[in-house]
Amino acid sequence: MRSHDDNVGVYEEAGAPIASRTTPRQRTPPTCPRRRRSSTLSTYDISKQDDTVPRTFHTHFPPDHSPSIVYPISSQGSCNAVVTPLVLFIDNEWVDAESGKTFETVSPIDGKVITRVAEGDKYLVSQDRPGKHSDFEIGRGSKIGVEIRARIRTDNDIGIGIQSGTRINIGLKTGTWIGIEGVTETDMERRTEVGIENRADIDTVTDREADIEKAVAAARRAFHRKSEWRQLTASARGRLLHRFADLIERDAEYLSTLETTDNGMLYAMSRLMMQGIAGTVRYAAGLADKVHGDTIPSDFEGFTYTLRQPVGVCGLILPWNGPMSMFVSKVATALAAGCTMVVKPAEQTPLTALALAALLAEAGVPRGVVNVVNGYGPTAGAALTHHPHVAKVSFTGSLEVGKIIQQAAGASNLKRVTLELGGKSPLVICDDADLNVAVPYAAEGVFAHQGQVCVAASRLFVQSKIYDEFVKRAVEYAKNRKVGNPFTEGNQNGPQVDEEMMNKVLGYIEKGKAEGAKLLTGGQRIGTTGYYLEPTVFADVTDNMTIAKEEIFGPVQSILKFETLDEVIDRANDTNYGLAAGIFTTNVQTALQFSNLVEAGIVWVNNYFTFEPRIPFGGFKDSGLGRENGLEGIQQYLETKTVNIAVPKLT
Ligand code: NAI
Ligand code: MG
Repeated sequence: MRSHDDNVGVYEEAGAPIASRTTPRQRTPPTCPRRRRSSTLSTYDISKQDDTVPRTFHTHFPPDHSPSIVYPISSQGSCNAVVTPLVLFIDNEWVDAESGKTFETVSPIDGKVITRVAEGDKYLVSQDRPGKHSDFEIGRGSKIGVEIRARIRTDNDIGIGIQSGTRINIGLKTGTWIGIEGVTETDMERRTEVGIENRADIDTVTDREADIEKAVAAARRAFHRKSEWRQLTASARGRLLHRFADLIERDAEYLSTLETTDNGMLYAMSRLMMQGIAGTVRYAAGLADKVHGDTIPSDFEGFTYTLRQPVGVCGLILPWNGPMSMFVSKVATALAAGCTMVVKPAEQTPLTALALAALLAEAGVPRGVVNVVNGYGPTAGAALTHHPHVAKVSFTGSLEVGKIIQQAAGASNLKRVTLELGGKSPLVICDDADLNVAVPYAAEGVFAHQGQVCVAASRLFVQSKIYDEFVKRAVEYAKNRKVGNPFTEGNQNGPQVDEEMMNKVLGYIEKGKAEGAKLLTGGQRIGTTGYYLEPTVFADVTDNMTIAKEEIFGPVQSILKFETLDEVIDRANDTNYGLAAGIFTTNVQTALQFSNLVEAGIVWVNNYFTFEPRIPFGGFKDSGLGRENGLEGIQQYLETKTVNIAVPKLT
């Protein structure tokens, strides 16, 4: 088996600049990245969707620059969102993936392909492993949401993966297996013995992926002590981030349109979120020059102080539910700390990360500091988490993959790991609560963004005296909720992100019914185009039901009854998760007792979903590790160094 260093050696000896096809350019303003090739691969016509689609997009992105993502509107006013081939963004250059492969990104609004995105997960071809391999892939697309991926390589390993609602991967090993990284021989034997693993994601990185390799090497060069980036002062980094925020504000409409098209988020929401996104960047900008150590009194004859220094190259793995907000909260904080990074967006929502990367380049962030490689989790994502030159991984996504990532970190180089892994958050409504406030908050808490929110109020505990009245009003609220095209003003819910996630939610609804929960409204898919679900309310849910235990990530409100505060605290904590919690009560003592005792990273009293860049955010228990945002957030991208200087007493 080849060691990590062998792999790296091959790349670095091949010579920096790494990307042989992307010669470094002098940075002349504007520092916009250029696509190397251009041809239109697909056209996505959202004019057919609805008349209310906003018609004032920027005609180019970035305006006046290389039209790597273009969203022109015709003079008639209909929106032809022509998105040209989306390449990778490495070393401030647009580059084609080594693999030459692309994958489709589909709009959940109508299930149509928006464009094809370069897939940065090609098998490493190096001198000792001649490129005698053939990869083929049968992409998404069948109506039942089955994805089949198969790879056959002539160098003795065969891997076949079949993905469905729950993914099944079959790994076969023939002959000698070489170049397996992060998977020990024993692991492999166990796998071949078992033959089939039934889990959402299988971590079968067989070698380092070429594009991740290039991106990490670019980030590593940019982290060199003599690099342009490392020469910048902390306040200069802050100024770059402020420029980035300015550009986000300039392109807010374009960015939110792209987000809604790719993710299905209500346009009203994505547009509103732009303020928060720019605000997060500005908060990080302000933090950049406020990172400092301490001086510590010493019992010895000396002077002791600490430095807080950037941890190094970071791997930032993003989820699809808030692609832009996750991008900025991780990237801007890592930049403020002085790190360099490789970003791996979720395969469902690859577009806005590329757009934001272009803005970072335009803001003047030096080469190699931020690199975006799109691709799948078990390939591009796993290559990043196993990479020996990645010092830290920050991940938001499923618990299952969080565990895989922590293992990869341990198996490789003990990466620092920050994980935000969702939850099963309890929201408690006490007898004394104002129902006019509590009912809508509780509904928004689980229906907003179609329930695809890590802090969704997915276990709603209502006290017995008000239970019947509350349930009646909750059902009414859900029934009145407008679901449809996210661009249409007035709609309150859009589609689920993709067919797989929609089917997953429908599966939970079936389980809820089968296990005896009372379905009072919803429960069905709406139409057959796009992935829309009815807002769903279950009453008489009990703690042991699947819908009360597992993260549904859909518009499903599960109402449970409770009698006393003491009881509800135990029940609220009886979960492996611990991300968020909420309580509605007019009794301050109840609010404080609950807040003190509930096991959650954030507690909302008489409100829900309040977020700010200044507040630390993260989970207890299986909901994650570490905190993002706030003053704690930046600490996750820093190492503390203690310096002790002998200072003999002057006598
Ligand atoms: P996921 O955890 O598989 O995907 C999140 C990210 O991790 C994506 O970028 C993906 O490509 C990457 N990834 C997947 N496997 C990987 C691996 N082996 N190594 C490195 N990176 C990998 O989540 P998925 O499948 O999209 O959603 C499943 C469930 O996860 C949802 O139904 C929801 O319950 C939960 N989730 C929670 C989120 C949160 O905000 N905490 C966000 C997204 C999903
Ligand atoms: Mg997954």
